[in-house]
Amino acid sequence: MTPIGPKAYIHIDRLKQNLWNIRRHIGDRKLVCVVKANAYGHGALEISKALSNESGIIFAVFAFEEAIELRDNGIDNAILIFSRLQPELILKASKLNFILNVCTMADLKALSDFQIKTGTCPTFHLKFDTGMTRLGFDVSEAHTVFTFIINNHLNPEGIYSHFSTADEGNLSYAEIQLEQFNEIIEKGKNKGINFKYVHCSNSGAILNLPNAYFNMIRVGMLLYGVSPSDEVPMDISLEPVMSFCGTIVNIRKVPAGTQVSYGGVFITEKETNIVVVQAGFADGFPRPWYEKGFVGYKGQTYKIAGRVCMDQFMVDFGNLEPKEGEEVLLFGKKDGNEIAVESIAREINTTTYVLLTAIHGRTERVVV
Ligand SMILES: Cc1ncc(COP(=O)(O)O)c(C=O)c1O
Repeated sequence: MTPIGPKAYIHIDRLKQNLWNIRRHIGDRKLVCVVKANAYGHGALEISKALSNESGIIFAVFAFEEAIELRDNGIDNAILIFSRLQPELILKASKLNFILNVCTMADLKALSDFQIKTGTCPTFHLKFDTGMTRLGFDVSEAHTVFTFIINNHLNPEGIYSHFSTADEGNLSYAEIQLEQFNEIIEKGKNKGINFKYVHCSNSGAILNLPNAYFNMIRVGMLLYGVSPSDEVPMDISLEPVMSFCGTIVNIRKVPAGTQVSYGGVFITEKETNIVVVQAGFADGFPRPWYEKGFVGYKGQTYKIAGRVCMDQFMVDFGNLEPKEGEEVLLFGKKDGNEIAVESIAREINTTTYVLLTAIHGRTERVVV
């Protein structure tokens, strides 16, 4: 049976080129490739397998289960887990070479207890909250944290924080975060703690805040060839790693005045070919895009006709009559068509992160 559902073509050559271009930009800093949320919809296994042999790559995921999935599938690289540490998983983390996120005194206590009991300790990085107000020690806890570490002979491999506005035009808040982070590191140093890795940068900071590079960088969106926001200058050459496509499953010639899709908000102006594409909002094709949206086919674009349905949507092909089984480009860059996911995000007032991570479920990933 030929699959006719949506397909996400994953261009590995572009992924690697993006990686090299990012590396050229950031110098020889250690790189953490963020593959959480199924590598932003690109397929965590596909992406990790393609990058695992590049020199010195660490992967980052959010959930423990995501890290297990990578290990179970032969990915040997160190894996940083962003989510809250679960004490019952410390042993497993230690055996599987995961890097744990330590962000409360309870986490530190759990690690210390584990170390006393077993004589070993998994690798961990301390996370400080400098303004995101999410996970992380408070800035004011720095003294207590470092004292506990010294008194209990713990050895954090790294220390990090996360920007909330690094991809914005106005960087004043990010600068304050950076200042606070620098002060924390200084306090650690004054107490004699040497962190092997210090990291704060995400994609926005890579483009916007070279002062925040330290010696390790966490990169997600740029790796996938997509800009984190419209406000940052894109001075790294990147290409979209995903081409999201849908299959034409039906073509019907209809007269002028024909209503198309729910609500009948699209009415044909003349006789035209209405093409049914098998991909809908349940597949991550964004419903609000129908108002201005289009698809790519053989180098041309054709307007979406009416509201995107759960599993399908329609396109007005005019006089042209494509064939069933042919594909249209929904976003990405393939076969002479290019539709930037950034432009869709802009048009429907969402973010590229939301659009890409919505690609899941029935979509088949095809590595090319
Ligand atoms: C803690 C942390 N670091 C790094 C990243 C990567 O961010 P980006 O995709 O903007 O590079 C994320 C993504 O949300 C994150 O949560």
